[in-house]
Amino acid sequence: MARGTFSNRLGFILAAAGSAVGLGNIWRFPYLAGENGGAIFLLIYLACIVLLCLPVMIGEITIGRYSGADAVTTFEKTGGKAWKWLGLYGIVTAVFILSFYCVISGWALEYFVQIAFGNRLAESQGDGAPASLSVTLLYTFIFVALTAWVAIRGINKGIERANRILMPALFIILFGLIFYSLTLPNAWAGLTFYLVPDFGELKPQTIFNGLKQSFFSLSLGTGTLLIFGSYLSKKENVISSSVVIALADTSVAFLAGLMIFPFVFSQNMSPAEGPPLVFLVLPKVFFSLGPVWGKIMGALFFLLLCFAALTSTISLIEGPTGYLVDRWKASRSKAVLAIAAATLVLSIPSVLSQGTFPLFSHLGFYQGRDFLTFISDLCDISLVVWGGLMCVVISQRWTTAKLDDELSLGNSGYRSSWVRSYLRVTLTVVCPLILAMLVILIVCDKFVGL
Ligand code: PHE
Repeated sequence: MARGTFSNRLGFILAAAGSAVGLGNIWRFPYLAGENGGAIFLLIYLACIVLLCLPVMIGEITIGRYSGADAVTTFEKTGGKAWKWLGLYGIVTAVFILSFYCVISGWALEYFVQIAFGNRLAESQGDGAPASLSVTLLYTFIFVALTAWVAIRGINKGIERANRILMPALFIILFGLIFYSLTLPNAWAGLTFYLVPDFGELKPQTIFNGLKQSFFSLSLGTGTLLIFGSYLSKKENVISSSVVIALADTSVAFLAGLMIFPFVFSQNMSPAEGPPLVFLVLPKVFFSLGPVWGKIMGALFFLLLCFAALTSTISLIEGPTGYLVDRWKASRSKAVLAIAAATLVLSIPSVLSQGTFPLFSHLGFYQGRDFLTFISDLCDISLVVWGGLMCVVISQRWTTAKLDDELSLGNSGYRSSWVRSYLRVTLTVVCPLILAMLVILIVCDKFVGL
């Protein structure tokens, strides 16, 4: 069975950037920045991208391209049989991420539909009251179905084509919203909060949030970029492509903050609202803009969120799909449908956790937090563990000599460039060490309550 390939470098970069740009940038980055001191968080985040994420991204794409196959086969080829499980572990994580990601994406879709065609802003006085369980379930289903529909069409006609349309649309909407938000009263206070660092705000928590956010945002640690790498031609330059992907992702996160903080400050609201920032605070902001501008800006904002989310969900489903196609010789459509069905079943507890269902909305063993938060925290840890272990496989089992060989394809000057030493040091020492530290920090924070 023929595997797909990206038609060219641009197709690959758009698909990978589409994967990276998602709810992580527009929903999670602004609220984490809001809770963690604004500008100082931005600085930490940027440092994480350079020191940690970029090498991990290059490593992940490179082993995928080297093997030209799914994650399990890739780890078999690079680490030996004993490491096969790592591929499967990433694939399972991807399905769990999908399970809660599609629920949040479903909210975004419901907000878009209700603001554009219904009366959500006026009805709720902008307090963004959550939809009923059946409505949430329905929109989750629609989002999973949309994802499956694109994914079934394959690499070129599905993933590439969707990104060629959605990514430029996303940038246009984003710039329109930024332009508007900067004209609002008090926008300047929002910008100052976001752009002028206050080093007094620097806490261990800030560093740890910056680290896990950068990982999630760049789509690292599930084998998503690995499977995309497996569809990439040997003629392409992995390093420069990775730099472009990381830059695109970081700019969207940065721009999302540039849009959201002026909106929030213009209404004298708190930027530190946590996860509801986008779903509860922004609708209030849009409501206050009046019936016409509120509707336009609100609908555009949630459409933006849906586009960003869809380009990520179609990438998340690709790792598991590639695995079923490559290892189990399933047809592409059967593989996608099987993963979509599993996603839907797994999403049920997350849907129920947002309502009045105490079994899932107050987990006794998790400090009373809800199931969706629990599963997303668990996935955060998993991404980091996977990333750290992948660095160990590359540096200890596969060896950096083989990494050099693969990276020289499509990049003839690689061996004599400083990037080679940078990758050697980061992948062998810095990444595994920092990642191990991060895992300990997360476990202490979330499970031991230190
Ligand atoms: N990077 C995506 C986002 O920022 C989420 C994601 C994580 C996608 C892991 C694929 C793999 O929303």
